Amino acid sequence: MSNQYVEKVLSVHHWNDTLFSFRTTRNPAFRFEAGQFAMIGLMVEGRPLLRAYSMACAPYDEELEFLSIKVPDGPLTSRLQKIVPGDEILIGRKATGTLLHDNLVPGRNLYFLSTGTGLAPFMSLIRDPATYERFEKVVLVHGVRLVSELAYETFIREELPADELIGEMVASQLIYHPTVTREDYRNRGRVTELFASPDWFASLGLPFANAENDRVMLCGSPAMLADMKVQLEGRGFVEGSSSTPATYVVERAFVEK
Ligand code: A2P
Repeated sequence: MSNQYVEKVLSVHHWNDTLFSFRTTRNPAFRFEAGQFAMIGLMVEGRPLLRAYSMACAPYDEELEFLSIKVPDGPLTSRLQKIVPGDEILIGRKATGTLLHDNLVPGRNLYFLSTGTGLAPFMSLIRDPATYERFEKVVLVHGVRLVSELAYETFIREELPADELIGEMVASQLIYHPTVTREDYRNRGRVTELFASPDWFASLGLPFANAENDRVMLCGSPAMLADMKVQLEGRGFVEGSSSTPATYVVERAFVEK
């Protein structure tokens, strides 16, 4: 038996010239938890070419959704960006990853800090009822260079709070904070600067995050992850894993596409 399911592309959405998302069929046997990733890709010269992609859909969705950058000379994304509905796509049978509720000890508020396509696992986690059952407030920060990179912005702001299953929890508990670093926008500044700023927390109506009460999940550029790790550990946060749950977790699976 092959290690991948062969699924069909159902739709493709190009956010801009560097970013796209797509939906595929889902084998009913494919199971995952919100926050996990799978190895997905295409057959290239008779062999599977696979990279780690977080599921951006909810675990209960009948279809799968993924968010991807387009790298002009990227071995996979130079090809993947050309997919159209009806094309075949390989989805690894085994989902894995560290951005899991069980890897965190219980807390008050939960922070999802992302840059770029690091948003993807949080698109799943903000649709998971467990997120709202375990925490009082859930803060999703998405840092990008350009406004056009704010994938799913309208969906998170307008559609999610109206969702039949989780809309009520989203409306009362989710704080979405998109932020742009290289052009004008209502929110500016890097994720790292915001999280270090008591004024930013106050602007959200929340206390300055601390390791005793609050929990953090990180996904995004290696530079952001490295800087946030230093900041969080300096503030007393400890990295958690499945063997030792703690106060923050990081996904490092996506580096080069
Ligand atoms: P900036 O524009 O100031 O570099 P990239 O496209 O390079 O992955 O960056 C995505 C977003 O992450 C950008 O807003 C970028 O800000 C930001 N970023 C890059 N490096 C860091 C870092 N070390 N800490 C926090 N944010 C970062």
